[in-house]
Amino acid sequence: MKPVFTRRDFIAAGAALAGTMMLPAALAATRKKVRIGMIGTGMRGQVLLQELLRRDDVEVAALCDIEPVMLGKALGQVAKFGKPKPVTYGEDRDPQAYRRMLDAGKLDGIVIATPWEWHAPMAIAAMQAKIPVGCEVVAGITLQDHWDVLNTQLKTGTPYMLLENVCFRRDVMAVLRMVRAGVFGELVHLQGGYQHDLRAVKFNSGDPARPYGGGVEYGAKGWSEARWRTEHSVRRNGDLYPSHGIGPCAMYTNINRGNRFTRINTFATKARGLHDYVVKQGGASHPNAKTAFKLGDVVTTTLACENGETIILQHDTSLPRPYSIGFRVQGTHGLWMDLNESIHIEGQSKPHEWDAFQAWQDKYEHPLWRKYAKTAEGAGHGGMDFFVIHAFVEALKAQAPMPIDIYDAVTWSAITPLSEQSIAQNFQTLDFPDFTAGQWKSRKPIFAFDDRY
Ligand SMILES: NC(=O)c1ccc[n+]([C@@H]2O[C@H](COP(=O)([O-])OP(=O)(O)OC[C@H]3O[C@@H](n4cnc5c(N)ncnc54)[C@H](O)[C@@H]3O)[C@@H](O)[C@H]2O)c1
Repeated sequence: MKPVFTRRDFIAAGAALAGTMMLPAALAATRKKVRIGMIGTGMRGQVLLQELLRRDDVEVAALCDIEPVMLGKALGQVAKFGKPKPVTYGEDRDPQAYRRMLDAGKLDGIVIATPWEWHAPMAIAAMQAKIPVGCEVVAGITLQDHWDVLNTQLKTGTPYMLLENVCFRRDVMAVLRMVRAGVFGELVHLQGGYQHDLRAVKFNSGDPARPYGGGVEYGAKGWSEARWRTEHSVRRNGDLYPSHGIGPCAMYTNINRGNRFTRINTFATKARGLHDYVVKQGGASHPNAKTAFKLGDVVTTTLACENGETIILQHDTSLPRPYSIGFRVQGTHGLWMDLNESIHIEGQSKPHEWDAFQAWQDKYEHPLWRKYAKTAEGAGHGGMDFFVIHAFVEALKAQAPMPIDIYDAVTWSAITPLSEQSIAQNFQTLDFPDFTAGQWKSRKPIFAFDDRY
């Protein structure tokens, strides 16, 4: 495939527009090594830290966490790699300690892996301090948060990347190339979601040695995500985690790059799963059996796109089920579904029959996976955590725009507050804000499909 990104595009694009993997060679790699700080060294932070520590082009210069056990585990990882001890912040449990880390300067980038409510204020503070941000999903809580993060990025020009790892999944990237090559014809309908039984994540005994399951505590008595994430299921009803599903679908349909979401609505079922789990695991007399959870067990969002596609997202985290994103990419020539790893392409598949996806995977393997599959072995989430950190670090080194940019971040993540609003207004269909202020019409599709990288 031909690169679609020109030098003129790069210069005009500014911080928010392009991808590291698309850089012309002359503009690539102006730094050999980058100094990274991390805020939040919990379960996710430790996975990302591992990827940073594996790299020779990264110095982990500073770590911040307000939970000494988590900070200690992260320092243990650094020591295991034989790397210099980073400066640490947060031992005093001051939730604002990260500001001292930002003020100390000397960082080329910062990774944020804290609870959701901290993402927007931390990213905003880092961008104001001119430290480029790699932020875990989501970008913020309220719709206003999303505008604030966007406006800070635009005002400061500080690069911001949403660390959405599913965009880097092996089959997802192969399908991106198939979409670009026209295998599916013109896209018509897509599906995805976050369908993950999180009951043993939302509840545990509070024992740091056993972060998953083993109890029905949450909040102050819980550990890791049970400490903060469960509370969102108590108070909120919406698609609380849209980006794993919408990220790839948005890339396939060129959202913010020639296409945009125009309308959104969300329906939610009753909430039964979490209460049922507490009663089954902890007994009907456990105090948490009295908690009234607001989050519907299955939350279904429909998005309409300017170019005529629809996208259905499902958030399904409170019932027993095996993990699945549930991708479906369907066009005028056929469709792919990830659940059964199958594909049907008219003229190539027998009528009304599925083919195994593997042959297509082999044919359309993304060049990044061809190049780095061995390196990515052992990295989190089947290797994709290597790629998401790789993309962030390479962009920092090249001082290039981020491959998943601020417009992607706020557009994908704003689905959460909009879905909450739709449900609260009796499942009303709402207008989707245009965060690009009309630029979606002229922006070009660019994400990660250049064969050279
Ligand atoms: N992309 C993925 O695949 C993926 C997977 C898991 C988690 N996540 C995301 O990563 C983030 C972190 O999740 P987690 O599982 O690590 O949760 P966690 O609870 O294990 O870790 C969060 C850490 O942040 C720390 N923290 C809280 N407030 C802080 C503050 N003010 N200053 C400094 N540190 C603070 C906590 O002490 C804790 O150690 C969440 O946004 C989550 O959604 C993403």
